[in-house]
Amino acid sequence: MSQIELRPGLADVPVAESAVSYIDGKNARLEYRGIAVETLAFESCFEETTYLLLKGDLPTQKQLADFDDQLRHHRRIKFRLVDLLKCLPENGHPMYALQAAVAAMGMFYPSRDVTNAQSNWESVIRLVAKLPTVIAAFHRIRYGDEPIRPRDDLDHAANFYWMLFEKEPSPAVRKVIDACLILHAEHTMNASTFSGRVTGSTLANPYTVISAAIGTLTGPLHGGANEEVLDMLEEIGSIPKARAWCEDAIANKKKIMGFGHRVYKVKDPRATALQELAERVFTDSGRPEQYDLAVEMEKVMAEKLGPKGIYPNVDFYSGIVYQSLGMPRDLFTPIFAIARVAGWLAHWLEQLQGNRIYRPEQIYVGKRDAKYVPLAQRP
Ligand code: CMC
Repeated sequence: MSQIELRPGLADVPVAESAVSYIDGKNARLEYRGIAVETLAFESCFEETTYLLLKGDLPTQKQLADFDDQLRHHRRIKFRLVDLLKCLPENGHPMYALQAAVAAMGMFYPSRDVTNAQSNWESVIRLVAKLPTVIAAFHRIRYGDEPIRPRDDLDHAANFYWMLFEKEPSPAVRKVIDACLILHAEHTMNASTFSGRVTGSTLANPYTVISAAIGTLTGPLHGGANEEVLDMLEEIGSIPKARAWCEDAIANKKKIMGFGHRVYKVKDPRATALQELAERVFTDSGRPEQYDLAVEMEKVMAEKLGPKGIYPNVDFYSGIVYQSLGMPRDLFTPIFAIARVAGWLAHWLEQLQGNRIYRPEQIYVGKRDAKYVPLAQRP
């Protein structure tokens, strides 16, 4: 009998020591390098938060100005990368386009020596700076439009909006996008981060590391849930139908998207912050009916599944916020990736310090000493 205890989904199994972020799932607390995520969402900006995650401390004014400058100057993508995006099916999901483009970036910037701190930093800058450009370019191309060149007089959030819609966001919309990026930038040892760390542990190049993480984020149990929340709200249709829909889903043991979390057993603090942001946007644009339906659903779910510790996670309100900003539904998960690249890279750099390749164990449950029967003797 094996002595190893199997923990499905590696629940509660530590796989690394990390100083990047911290969650207290009982008290709805998420900290990046010790600072509460809500404080960062309302007081910082994505560039500063990214620096904090990557370097471990808040930047000085000069450090932030230099970092921001580097990001602004690395937003453009090679024309051959645009050609590659043009060859992809226009109805394919933008997450797959992003994953393909990031993997291909490893061929454009082929440094394979991950022991070189300078070249690692250059890769970090390129990845953070270029992901929004790739997504915006693919989005334009799939509708037959030319990509819009990035503007280096705009910050990260405003430039992304510009490249999508060829107009500048209002200050309120810019702040909401910026805060959403901050709220999604990092989240301890989630599936995509772990996937990136596993790939990084082989000393693969950073573009391969990030493309592995992007692939992992696509799934509906992870980043893909935000799109499915809106599909679900559409299916429910109206507030009076929320209770019966939830009761039916629970009775049929259906997973309700945007609810539940491996670590949080209370409402995800990012969902609370997103809701506050949503309320701010809706003061200008009016409350969408879907938002009121979501609030009603949260109430019913708290009654039904609250005792099991199942509450809204970050994905429950994010889609409603993005939709109210005019973002197409299939860009919700790519926006998550544009933000989470900061956390993935912080973990990659951390993984490289004292790296050991991941090589876990399995519990073998298959046959032993089986006979090979030659094909001619088989029916
Ligand atoms: N709806 C209904 N029941 C749920 C839900 C849900 N959303 N989440 C968990 N449960 C129940 C589940 O059925 C199980 O019940 P029982 O013990 O009776 O079998 C129990 O709670 C434990 O669930 P689990 O699936 O074993 O929990 P997990 O820690 O493996 O999964 C999760 C966590 C996030 C994958 C899961 O809660 C889920 O599938 N949620 C819906 C998808 C979603 O919103 N994902 C976004 C996660 S947050 C952002 C991100 O990570 O990208």
